[in-house]
Amino acid sequence: MGTRDVLVFVLLSILSASALSDLVILKCDRRIDLRTHIVRVSTSLKVENIGPAGVSEFLLTVPNFQAQNLAYLTASSYEGHGKSKGSVVNLSANLVQRDGMPPDITLYSVSLPKELGKGESLTFDILSVFTHSLKPFPEEITQADIQLVVYQDGAYYLSPYEVKVQSLSVQVPSPRVEFYTKLPNAKVVESEIKYGPYDNLPPFSFSPIIVHFENNRPFAVVKKLVREIEISHWGNVQVTEHYCLVHGGARNKGGFSRIEYQARPDIRGAASFRHLTARLPPRAHSIYYRDQIGNISTSNLWADSRKTELRIEPRYPLFGGWKTDFTIGYGLPLQDFLFESEGKFVLNFSFGCPIDEVVIDNLLVKVVLPEGSKDMFAHVPFDTNQREEVKFSHLDFFGRPVVVLEKENVVPEHNQHFQVYYKFNCLSMLQEPLMLISGFFLFFIACIVFKHMDISISKSSSAYIAKLQWDEVQAALQNVHNIINRCIAVEEKLGASLHELSRTGDVQACKTARKAADGLLKELLKELKPTLAFLQSSSQASQIWPKVDELVAKEKEKQERLMMKHSTVVDGYEKRSNGRDIANRVVTHDQRLAVLNQEVDELLDFIDQI
Ligand SMILES: *[C@@H]1O[C@H](CO)[C@@H](O)[C@H](O)[C@H]1NC(C)=O
Ligand SMILES: *[C@@H]1O[C@H](CO)[C@@H](O)[C@H](O)[C@H]1NC(C)=O
Repeated sequence: MGTRDVLVFVLLSILSASALSDLVILKCDRRIDLRTHIVRVSTSLKVENIGPAGVSEFLLTVPNFQAQNLAYLTASSYEGHGKSKGSVVNLSANLVQRDGMPPDITLYSVSLPKELGKGESLTFDILSVFTHSLKPFPEEITQADIQLVVYQDGAYYLSPYEVKVQSLSVQVPSPRVEFYTKLPNAKVVESEIKYGPYDNLPPFSFSPIIVHFENNRPFAVVKKLVREIEISHWGNVQVTEHYCLVHGGARNKGGFSRIEYQARPDIRGAASFRHLTARLPPRAHSIYYRDQIGNISTSNLWADSRKTELRIEPRYPLFGGWKTDFTIGYGLPLQDFLFESEGKFVLNFSFGCPIDEVVIDNLLVKVVLPEGSKDMFAHVPFDTNQREEVKFSHLDFFGRPVVVLEKENVVPEHNQHFQVYYKFNCLSMLQEPLMLISGFFLFFIACIVFKHMDISISKSSSAYIAKLQWDEVQAALQNVHNIINRCIAVEEKLGASLHELSRTGDVQACKTARKAADGLLKELLKELKPTLAFLQSSSQASQIWPKVDELVAKEKEKQERLMMKHSTVVDGYEKRSNGRDIANRVVTHDQRLAVLNQEVDELLDFIDQI
């Protein structure tokens, strides 16, 4: 995409620049906020009707190359005079088609709060939010690099109406701007690029601009989020959210070194992110956060009367292109979200994702109603696909009705409240299962009694012995971790010897370094043997042993690879091959090593969690 689209677009626009109605824009101030990975364009317009007839609609134009990423669009005006005094009126903006418009433009129609008579004027604001509009350039960076991105737009407000005076301000996260399109009246002031003022531009004026700048904010993109909100009339709302999160920024190349990441803050990976914050409703309880391996206990939780904050910290930092899947779950008091109105129940809940500044490519909100609910419908303040499903859990006769809301391209602006209305008769619900419930009740009593017996027995000495054994297992795991860490340190040194070689060309020194490393690694693996034998034979460690075994296998493979890579490089130097040849010969090793590094890291983290 890019400049070519824009150029074609400009030509077409000029061809069809016919005046659309008798509106003119007296003043237009545009502000493009590029400080995160979500692009927000706020436009403030003062419009006047200079024709004889009344006008009740205003047309917004968005170039197609932007319209495909448009996630959110609102227009609002102020009743009364001045922003401070008046109250906000939201205007609806709808997709429309009109003859005689350039094909590269998407049109939205905004209905004005009242018809504009001859000579009357109106001020209103438009907010448009775009996703996936900052293109990483370069597309691939290493762990130590900062991330640079490109944004494209027009310097003039694209409009079917004449614009008398206009200006544009582009806000970037830091003063580090690599490039911006230099037009007359363009300047950079700290982290802001200003264009304008420009006077008296005819309809459809367009002048492409490009901004290339540093942006290291977390490019957190949720490919898919399924939010399940399950209502229980026993007093609880259970929320379960499954995330498939990816770092949508410049792809990471050259693998990841945790040692470097931890030891050298300057090479921490400016473009990576380590954690995100989820803002849950107040009074959330039983909060958990887990991934495929299990619960993640390093996450932190803060709570006060207004909110609950959960810090989501994946097992490894996310670099460009990396993914992680996880689930968070929490319970909420039903009375905070469910109301009764006109014989119906109303669930009033927030729609979007509780995590800060994420883009969701595909969001499914599933509201699971109690069994026996009927006449349900949802009211959402924006367009969604709606359907119904049935969910069965063990105690259900007919299944629970589920209202499913689906939306693509969701941004934080969509975190608005939506309502699900339904009818549900608590009494009729109770009659039938009463027998069943009493049956279960007896069963649970029996269970509880049994459990208490179990607990009293477990305080005997066998539990004590089990605990001692478990302590031993943990000590062994700690030992494995230490030895592998020492291996990693040796491997890093070996890697450093190759850098030294490229600097000094001293083949002999490099060979000596390899021999020393080889000896050290062999010794370390030998040292590991008794611990491994213990873990393999311990019944307490039977769950963990496969992971430890896998870790050691991966570590061995990694060492072999490193040795192969090392000798290939040294060989190349000895035979005086050129640098590119050598690089080509080790590329498969490098790729495998990057994968192995990550796998070993993950397994180490897994062991840490135990
Ligand atoms: C994870 O934590 C939740 C809530 O604390 C708990 O119910 C669940 O059993 C735990 N799962 C594992 C695998 O430890
Ligand atoms: C839903 O809850 C929000 C926040 O508590 C509140 O502002 C809004 O008025 C409620 N909507 C309805 C329809 O109850």
